[in-house]
Amino acid sequence: MKKRIISLLMATLMVATLLIGCGENSSSNSGSGDYADKKVGICIYQFSDNFMTLYRTELEAYLISLGFKKENIVIQDGANDQATQTQQIQNFIADGVDVLIVNLVNSSSAATITDIVVAANIPLVYINREPSEDEENRWKENNWNVCYVGCDARQSGTMQGEIIADLGLDKVDLNGDGKIQYIMVEGDPENIDAQYRTEFSVKALVDAGFEVDELDDQVGNWDQVQGQTIVANALAAYGEKIEVVFCNNDAMALGAIQAIEAAGRTVGTDIFLVGVDALVEACEDVLSGKMTGTVFNDHIAQAHGAADCAVKFIKGEKVDVYVGCDYKKVTPDNAQEILDALK
Ligand code: GAL
Repeated sequence: MKKRIISLLMATLMVATLLIGCGENSSSNSGSGDYADKKVGICIYQFSDNFMTLYRTELEAYLISLGFKKENIVIQDGANDQATQTQQIQNFIADGVDVLIVNLVNSSSAATITDIVVAANIPLVYINREPSEDEENRWKENNWNVCYVGCDARQSGTMQGEIIADLGLDKVDLNGDGKIQYIMVEGDPENIDAQYRTEFSVKALVDAGFEVDELDDQVGNWDQVQGQTIVANALAAYGEKIEVVFCNNDAMALGAIQAIEAAGRTVGTDIFLVGVDALVEACEDVLSGKMTGTVFNDHIAQAHGAADCAVKFIKGEKVDVYVGCDYKKVTPDNAQEILDALK
């Protein structure tokens, strides 16, 4: 009898030990936060881009907060050259990264890059520069571990136009000819963000019932210095005729402010200026009146979205082909709120 009780006790103990063992195992397998040995390769189209600098800083910090080790997160500068970036991707593949996060130099290279990465059986998260719809459909049809995380640039363009339209024709039509004379400063035209912001900012004005008159449209490649030169030249050529300056991003709008001030013009009084991104400096300029408004391009939500997709791929979970995010208008009414959220 005694023997039977002892063996029963021992059997119970063994089962209990096994169960505890299973519990430990399964929690480490499901791996919430257990990414210390996972390697992430990140390609940024160009380190000198202001917005992408905020983005990559947030992306790295968030990955570390999820449990990735800093030394296992490698971020490469594509130096705005697709051949350089393609080589970096090949090096990451040779290095056996567990996941790739890619901000393409040329969106049109997506199909080539996708084929290379899929062949190496590495999951791929595209960010910021959206590949074509056909390309995204291909990922879906083939059930590949590839996705895109970003915002719909049409929304940001529309918001820029609405910020101007909301001021009312009387205020913006400085020369009283019933039309809005504007100049457009474009980002890299290969990029859908530049194409859509250019198109939809003006469309929003037209949709609000304004007549428009384009005086100039130049490419500033997202760059402050180029923005300054373009706006300085346009102000020299068209002077007081210019009522609105649309910049596809804030870096170029910051350049525009320099040119506007140098020409002795005053935003809000004799000219209006909008950008996109909500860089800290731009929000401060909206508050002080040096800029009419901007549109918050939420790099925090996008960076987190991209990292979350990378984690899902690592865990073997399914990821949507398109992971979206909303833009937000920034005017003097809410610029402080946005600044507080950014700091
Ligand atoms: C845009 C952003 C620009 C620039 C560009 C790079 O979304 O507004 O400032 O960073 O991405 O592709």
